[in-house]
Order: sequence, then C-alpha cells, then structure tokens
Amino acid sequence: MEQKATNIFWHDGDITKADRERVHKHRGVCIWFTGLSGSGKSTIANEVQNLLFERGVHTYVLDGDNVRHGLNKDLGFSPEDRTENIRRIGEVAKLFVDAGTVVMTAFISPYRADRDQVREIMPEGDFVEVYVECDLAVCEERDPKGLYKKARAGEIPEFTGISAPYEAPEKPELVVNTSEETDVRKNAQKVIRFLEEKQYIPAQD
Ligand code: ADX
Repeated sequence: MEQKATNIFWHDGDITKADRERVHKHRGVCIWFTGLSGSGKSTIANEVQNLLFERGVHTYVLDGDNVRHGLNKDLGFSPEDRTENIRRIGEVAKLFVDAGTVVMTAFISPYRADRDQVREIMPEGDFVEVYVECDLAVCEERDPKGLYKKARAGEIPEFTGISAPYEAPEKPELVVNTSEETDVRKNAQKVIRFLEEKQYIPAQD
C-alpha cells in the first residue's frame, strides 16, 4: 500500500519486545486462524485464550465479526475490502506481537496472498498460521448465524464457500480439523501443545 504521509519518522521506544517477553515469561506471537465461516476459528481461539489466561499468558483475540463493528466498519466483502480488512488486522496484530502478547486472529482471510502479506510484515517466526479445516457441508449444517441459508437463497452475495472463493493454506504451521474432531477443548489443546513445543510459551509443569 502506498505511503501517503511524508515527513514522518519511526521512533523506537526504550522497552523492546525482548524486554516484554522476559517479563511476561513467554514470546509475543500471532496465531492466525483461517477457515470458512462456521469452521470454529473464534471458538477455538477463545478456548485457547481461556486456557492460557489461567496460566498467566498475555493473550488477546481479534475476531472478524467484532472488528467489522469498529475499526473496519467501512469495509464489506468484495475482494478489495477483504484484502484491506486483513491488511489492517495484520498491522494491529503486529502491534500486539511487539507488545509481547499472544494475539489470536479469527478471520476467514480467504486469500492466500493476503495472509502471506501479513506473514511478510511480521518478524520471522512470529506468525503462526493455523488452518481450521472443516468441510463446507459441515459448516453449512452448523450454520450458527443462518448465513449459509441466506447465501444459498441468494440473499448474501459473495459469500465465502458459496459464491466467493476460499484458498486453503498450502503450508500452515498447524491444521485443526473440526469436522473430524468436534471437541473444542481438544482442538484448543492441540494449538497449545504446538506453542509449547516451539517454545512460544513455557510447558506446564
Ligand atoms: S474476511 O473474508 O474479510 O476475512 P471476516 O472474517 O472479517 O471475513 O468476516 C466474516 C464474517 O462476516 C462471517 O463469519 C460472517 O458472519 C460474516 N459475513 C457477512 N457477509 C459475508 C460474506 N459475504 N462472506 C463471508 N462472511 C460474511
């Protein structure tokens, strides 16, 4: 994206990411959940947060439906708007990572290039892509917000999976398949185990 403002200068503060990580006793990292609407992104992210919060890990969840009520209320679901949605979330997530937080994002983020772009702006290793895999038929069956029904009836244009594309990740750090494993706690624990194994957070003793 083009830089509009001129005469602006980047300032580094005195407290670095490493300082924050030392005090927090865990790494700052972005866990980027991607998947169809109804696949379980927000549910898993929130369960991971519930479990980590109790362990004293600094977490935050950025959620598609919520962010679209505020920061991104000017954006719809055209390909361009989705790209801008993901770009802004990526920048926000980057700030959280720099603040030494385990930030989890739950956005469909259907375009591979948009997700890769977010990976690009993060320091190496600070972007963990989690593919929340779920058969379209299962998402449609769940239809928690009744949106698939509306999309099938032609009432919602450009609906992901129905009339707009979803590009699955090619090399995600982790895959959680919610049509095969429906236990939310187990799926969340899979994410937590990954974070422990890669030493983003300390293993529980
Ligand atoms: S994204 O494609 O730009 O990443 P985002 O995750 O922010 O999407 O928002 C998706 C949520 O918006 C869905 O879970 C659903 O509740 C709602 N929604 C409304 N219209 C659409 C649409 N056309 N396609 C997908 N989701 C939609």
